[in-house]
Amino acid sequence: MAVNSRSRSRSKYASKKSHKYVQSRLQIGPSEPALVKCTQCEMTYSPSALDDDAAHRLYHDMHLRGRKWSVNWGVEVPRTVDSNDVMPTPPSSSKNGALSSRPERIVMIRPECVPEVKATIEIMDRVNDELNAPHDENDFWSTAEGKGKAFLYIKNERAVGVATMEILKPDRGRWMVYDTKSIIEHIRPAFVVGISRIWVCRTERHGKIATKILDAARENTIYGRCIDKWEVAWSQPTDSGGKLASKYNGVRHKSGKLLIPCYI
Ligand SMILES: CC(C)(COP(=O)(O)OP(=O)(O)OC[C@H]1O[C@@H](n2cnc3c(N)ncnc32)[C@H](O)[C@@H]1OP(=O)(O)O)[C@@H](O)C(=O)NCCC(=O)NCCS
Ligand SMILES: [Zn+2]
Repeated sequence: MAVNSRSRSRSKYASKKSHKYVQSRLQIGPSEPALVKCTQCEMTYSPSALDDDAAHRLYHDMHLRGRKWSVNWGVEVPRTVDSNDVMPTPPSSSKNGALSSRPERIVMIRPECVPEVKATIEIMDRVNDELNAPHDENDFWSTAEGKGKAFLYIKNERAVGVATMEILKPDRGRWMVYDTKSIIEHIRPAFVVGISRIWVCRTERHGKIATKILDAARENTIYGRCIDKWEVAWSQPTDSGGKLASKYNGVRHKSGKLLIPCYI
């Protein structure tokens, strides 16, 4: 999401620990239903309220393990950008000789294929809940006329990571000073593609999945053109997003400051 559109949720980013689903409800019985905070997904909910309990189970499973993914959804993208970018391949058969699940892969969403778009929007809803971000920023990848793409990392037939990438109009690029998170206003760097959202389910973090998705996205967002790392910009990055950004394509200025390519 772009810096300006997320500004209203910036404070939530700062107080990240308390951001999940605290549902207000009309109290009819004598006492307030007890709220608990799940230690794994950090959602606050009421186990005694059926709708809350169901909402928690849905969020919990998605947050930790990703979403179940059909083999037919998405088109697998070829990836040749980075020689380190080797996808692990599982053994071709299990003990009893049956075929095991397909290898890990990255797929791109086709706007005309309704089921895969719906499944991805479901994932994006949970991602936006976690990021406390607007839920209405999907058109650029989910419609035929949209100027962007969505990529998902599929492992054991679950979507465990996602990135949505938008092609940027000129003038949206900015440098952000990593330490202070301040935007350098007077320079307009020409970035080509923006990372609107990037997310990896909790159990798969720190396994280079986000890096692999970004490498694939650089090759496949604009047909026939591989975008360089320095042409990819971040929207208002979270703490972990900023750390990923600093590693992926942060630039050291001659002043010694680390700059992150961003867009508004
Ligand atoms: C940010 C996020 C997508 C990173 O996914 P990931 O698959 O764990 O990232 P990678 O493994 O590819 O990270 C590559 C490098 O970036 C840096 N990095 C990424 N996440 C980091 C973190 N949380 N803390 C410190 N460094 C981090 C590390 O240097 C890492 O390499 P290393 O593990 O060898 O040190 C994931 O933490 C996430 O989904 N966070 C919640 C959603 C979010 O905040 N999205 C960002 C929106 S801008
Ligand atoms: Zn939970």
